[in-house]
Amino acid sequence: MNFNVGVIKGDGIGPEIVTEAMKVLDAIGAKFGHSFNYTQILMGGCSIDATGEPLTDEAIQAALSSDAVLMGSIGGNTSTSPWYKLPADKRPEAGLLKLRKSLNLFANLRPAYLYNELKEACPLRDDIIGDGFDMMIMRELTGGLYFGERSTKEEDGQLVARDSLTYSETEIRRIAKRGFDIAMKRRKKVTSVDKANVLDSSRLWRKIVEEVAKDYPEVEYEHMLVDNCAMQLVKNPRQFDVILTENMFGDILSDEASMVTGSIGMLSSASLNDTKFGLYEPSGGSAPDIAGQGIANPIATILSAAMMLRYSFDLDAEASSIEAAVKKVLADGYRTIDIMPQEADKRASVTQVGTAAMGDLIVERL
Ligand code: IPM
Ligand code: MG
Repeated sequence: MNFNVGVIKGDGIGPEIVTEAMKVLDAIGAKFGHSFNYTQILMGGCSIDATGEPLTDEAIQAALSSDAVLMGSIGGNTSTSPWYKLPADKRPEAGLLKLRKSLNLFANLRPAYLYNELKEACPLRDDIIGDGFDMMIMRELTGGLYFGERSTKEEDGQLVARDSLTYSETEIRRIAKRGFDIAMKRRKKVTSVDKANVLDSSRLWRKIVEEVAKDYPEVEYEHMLVDNCAMQLVKNPRQFDVILTENMFGDILSDEASMVTGSIGMLSSASLNDTKFGLYEPSGGSAPDIAGQGIANPIATILSAAMMLRYSFDLDAEASSIEAAVKKVLADGYRTIDIMPQEADKRASVTQVGTAAMGDLIVERL
């Protein structure tokens, strides 16, 4: 089959990691008889440099006319890059938020899974890791604090900044349903995370989640306060199956969950709407400090491409083939710098490779 894939390479390590994911997709295409036609789409800092805008209407149209979009990362160093001297709505991140909103990508899936082979990269003690963990963070992606009204104004001789956090029943219900649907295909447990002891938006969240839960009698569910969840993720990550949460909590908890698995360079993500379309991107950022050095870990992006095959194109065997190749490459002892073991004796038993070599090694194992 033929698939049209929009490609947003973006900034920082984005172009390097996306190149490897395309390499893997092309190899999958050759093996299974598919072809992927790529359309490059500008977003983020590179789009600002080229057009003055972090995301043009033309770029949104290009994304809309693709079957799915594969993305690297956007943004630069927030203290030194000139992009961060621009007004907030002209900065790189504004492009990504606008794309998510324009395409109604309300459901963000961020799987955090501990590879047996990477146990030594996990910062937690062996007795906490046990036989590993496997959770799915379901983050609401188009509402809440990141999309509310904001302002910075002078009041009584000083600057006052405001951000507003709004959630409607509809917004909560659709993400909650997605969370429970996904739990049904997994271990049938949902932990809904909120701050209902303080926030109205969280109290509504809890009410709607309880309503949705009634339609899923097989799913065990619980509510957890976000501060407790941050603690539980390092205390006992094995307790989680699906973590269902709002935009900002999901942003923060997914970075934490990824580090618990060893590295943010391993964590893929899918942002979905009500159709088959999806935006697939690694959960990590653009890592401007290591950009251009050929050392970034492409695995999260490669796994995001696998999610694209599974969720947008219904190519399960092809997706599994990529996931198995990633496991194999780790089992064979290849590591990018971010997942190298800390201890000298353990480092001796693995081989450190760069971004492109990691892509090649995965292709060899498909
Ligand atoms: C993420 C990123 C983005 C977000 C930024 C770049 C706007 O941190 O995808 O987690 O906060 O959603
Ligand atoms: Mg984030």
